[in-house]
Amino acid sequence: MKVSKIKGTLDYFGEQLNTYRYIEGVAKEICNSHGIKEVMLPTFEATELFARGVGEGSDIVSKEMYTFVDRSNRSITLRPEGTAGVTRWFVENKMYINPGLSKYFYVGPMFRYERPQAGRYREFRQFGVEAFGPGSAYLDADIICFADSFLKKLGIKNVKVLVNNIGSKQSRANYEKVLVEYFTKNIDSMCADCKNRLLKNPLRILDCKVDKETEIMKNAPKISDYLIEEDKEYAKSVISALDALDINYEVDEKLVRGLDYYTSTVFEFIYDDPASPINGLTLLAGGRYNGLAKELDGPDTDAIGFATGMERLILVMNELGVAPVLDESADACVITIGEVTKLEGIRLTNYLRSYNLKCEIDYINHNLKPQFKLSDRIKAKHVLIIGEDELNNGLIKVKNIETKEEKVIEVKNILKEFNKEGNEYAYKK
Ligand code: HAM
Repeated sequence: MKVSKIKGTLDYFGEQLNTYRYIEGVAKEICNSHGIKEVMLPTFEATELFARGVGEGSDIVSKEMYTFVDRSNRSITLRPEGTAGVTRWFVENKMYINPGLSKYFYVGPMFRYERPQAGRYREFRQFGVEAFGPGSAYLDADIICFADSFLKKLGIKNVKVLVNNIGSKQSRANYEKVLVEYFTKNIDSMCADCKNRLLKNPLRILDCKVDKETEIMKNAPKISDYLIEEDKEYAKSVISALDALDINYEVDEKLVRGLDYYTSTVFEFIYDDPASPINGLTLLAGGRYNGLAKELDGPDTDAIGFATGMERLILVMNELGVAPVLDESADACVITIGEVTKLEGIRLTNYLRSYNLKCEIDYINHNLKPQFKLSDRIKAKHVLIIGEDELNNGLIKVKNIETKEEKVIEVKNILKEFNKEGNEYAYKK
C-alpha cells in the first residue's frame, strides 16, 4: 500500500523551498542588524510547559496539541508555538543574569491539530522574535516596526496592522468582571464556543468569528474604559511611538489574541486584499507577555515578541509575484568525445566545482546527442568539449550557450571563462 503524507503537512522542494530559505535569509539578516541572537530549541517539551505557559483556557492547549505519553510515562507535547519554549530556556539557563534587554529569534516547525486549509497546516514553520528585559513603550513600537519592515523587505504589501492594549493583570481583572456580567446576560443566544469561553477565558469571546457581527458583540464593554491609569499612559505612549515611526496601524479594541500569556500591547498583521481568497489571513502576530517568566518559576521579567508563519508568507509572496525566482541553471556541462576523454572530463568537472562553479557531466554516454541533452536539461550556460585532439594539445572547446560563441582555448586558462582566479588546470595524461 502506498504511504502518503499526513494531512496538514507539507513536503518542501524546488521553488517553495527556495522561497522558504530566502525568507529565512532575510530574517537572519535583519535580526543580525538588530542584535537579535538565534536560538534552536527542542521541538517537543513537557506538556506542562504549554499548559502553564500558553494556558489551559486557550484553543491551542485545550484542542490543538499533539500530546503523547513517551516510553517512560511522561506527557510530552510537540511544540505548538515558540514563546513558551524560549521562556523556559531563558529561565532554565538564567539568561536573566545579563543586564538590560536580550533578544532572540528562532525559525522552525510547530505543530497544531487544526483543520487544514489555505495557510493553515498541522505542521507549519514560524519565524519568531522574543525580547526579554525592562518593558518600554518604545520597545513595543520598535518590535512592531521591525515586523513591519521585515514584511516590506519581503515585498509583502496590502497588510493591515492592528494594535490593542489588553492591560496589566489588574486592568484585566476589572475588565473580565464586567465582561462576564455583560455576556452572562446574553450568553443564551451565543455560539457554543463563546459559552465555553465565558467560563474559561471571557476575553476570547471578543474575537469570536461566529458572533462577530451581532449587536451583543458590538455593544460589549471596551477594554480601554477599564484600563488602570498606568496602562492607559503606556498604551498612549506606544501609539505616539508608532506615529513617530510612521507605522500605518489601526487600534482594534476587539483584538485580544488567543494565548493566555498576553498582557498590555498586542498586535496582528493581517493580509488585506478583498479580491484575494486569502484576504484576512493573519501573517504575523504577537504582543507583551510580562508574566510568563514568573509563571515558569523564573524572576518577574518583562517580555515582548511575535511570530510569523513561513507558509503564510510564501503563500502571499506567490500571490503578489514577489517570491524569488529559483535559478537552476548550471555554469557548465562538460562533454567528452571518445572513451579516453571521460576520466579527464570528470577531473575537469571536479576542478571547476572546487571553485564553486555548478558543473555537471554525463557519466554514462560517449555519444554527443545524449550529452547535449543533459546540457539542455541542466540549463548549462557553457558547454566545454574535450576531444582527443584537445586532450593531446592541452586545449578545450568552449561554447557560450547564450551568445552561441565558440572558441578553442588553452585548458589551463579555463577559470578565466568564468571570471574566476585560481590554479591553472592541466590534463593528467
Ligand atoms: P500565533 O498567533 O498562535 O502566535 O501564531 C503566530 C503566527 O503563526 C500566525 O500569525 C500565523 O502566521 C502562524 N500560524 C499559526 N498557526 C498556524 C497554522 N496552523 N498554519 C500555518 N501558520 C500558522 C504565536 O504562536 C505566539 N507564540 C507569537 C508570539 C511570540 N507572541 C509573543 N511572542
